[in-house]
Amino acid sequence: MSRDKIVLLLWLNFFGISFGRTDEIFLRHSTTRYDLIEVSMAIWSGFLPRLMECSSKCSQEPNCLSLVYDKFYASCHLFNVIYESDDNGDINYWVLETRSTRWGPKSCTDISKCSGITRDGEFWIYPPAANGKRTKIYCHNMSTEPSHFVTLKNNNSFIIHDETNFLFAYVLNNKCKSSFNPPLKMVEFSKVKVQIEDMLINRTDLTFTTTTGSYKFAYGGTADCNGEDIINTCHHFGKAIINTRGTGLIVDPTLAFGATGFRAKTYGLLRSVDGAEISYGCAGFCGYCGPSRSVRLEHTREFISVAEAKAIVCQY
Ligand SMILES: *[C@@H]1O[C@H](CO)[C@@H](O)[C@H](O)[C@H]1NC(C)=O
Ligand SMILES: *[C@@H]1O[C@H](CO)[C@@H](O)[C@H](O)[C@H]1NC(C)=O
Ligand SMILES: *[C@@H]1O[C@H](CO)[C@@H](O)[C@H](O)[C@H]1NC(C)=O
Repeated sequence: MSRDKIVLLLWLNFFGISFGRTDEIFLRHSTTRYDLIEVSMAIWSGFLPRLMECSSKCSQEPNCLSLVYDKFYASCHLFNVIYESDDNGDINYWVLETRSTRWGPKSCTDISKCSGITRDGEFWIYPPAANGKRTKIYCHNMSTEPSHFVTLKNNNSFIIHDETNFLFAYVLNNKCKSSFNPPLKMVEFSKVKVQIEDMLINRTDLTFTTTTGSYKFAYGGTADCNGEDIINTCHHFGKAIINTRGTGLIVDPTLAFGATGFRAKTYGLLRSVDGAEISYGCAGFCGYCGPSRSVRLEHTREFISVAEAKAIVCQY
């Protein structure tokens, strides 16, 4: 047995039947930091003289997925989630290995199958496409066909200034081509659908949106018909606002936004340093603007409290 691995083969009959479980768990040593975990959210905390007692406690507790053991204070904390590790962290952290008989769910389907939960809600899952990182996902249609959404905490809106605002009186020197017929078409997303296999956003799913007017709305996309790109002084109304702050996720920071249409262009792209907030405008005659490729969600170091979603532990 290697020094940095605790292999726990905890068979019932070894300790007597009073524990009532036969979990076989394997823990991998890692390190983390106090700002990456929440000791207050431990499912069990106490003093135990040795690491071995703390890991035994974990194996008896069916919802234990990771533990912190401090040798100096002999303190043991068990968690029903897996926090982020840091190779250079100052806390010893043990995390359940995949060959154990229990595991953290990889999808809403896992949760539905292993817990029997039929009510939709926020859950912690560990998608392989996100390197198994703790991800807060809204599981939708749990009683039928579970699907995955990310709940947005801020304004994600896409304003469309399309052909319905088009002026037909074409005046060569007048570059502002449109009229303005309010209200402009708009879609606001409160949740966005994500394909859990690859963390790509399904941009056209409008399940959790409010819309003004009808249009082929898509997350991240906008349009404007008020004239030739930005060489003129026309006001452009088409605008996209993406804001994933508070989700622990951002859209791929290398994602670019492009335009198609006559003399179309995106302009004024703003992206916050942490990548959580992106906005840009669209221009053209007409211009149709949007992400230049599929939109993938990635994890950031933004800390999201375990209290924000339900932790489920699956068992074989
Ligand atoms: C998912 O739930 C919605 C209601 O929120 C329902 O209209 C839809 O039919 C469901 N889809 C499936 C596949 O169950
Ligand atoms: C979101 O932003 C858009 C554009 O600025 C605005 O029209 C809309 O009212 C905002 N929605 C909310 C809920 O604040
Ligand atoms: C995206 O969502 C829409 C609407 O729910 C659906 O029709 C479409 O099949 C989905 N696309 C993918 C690639 O799953």
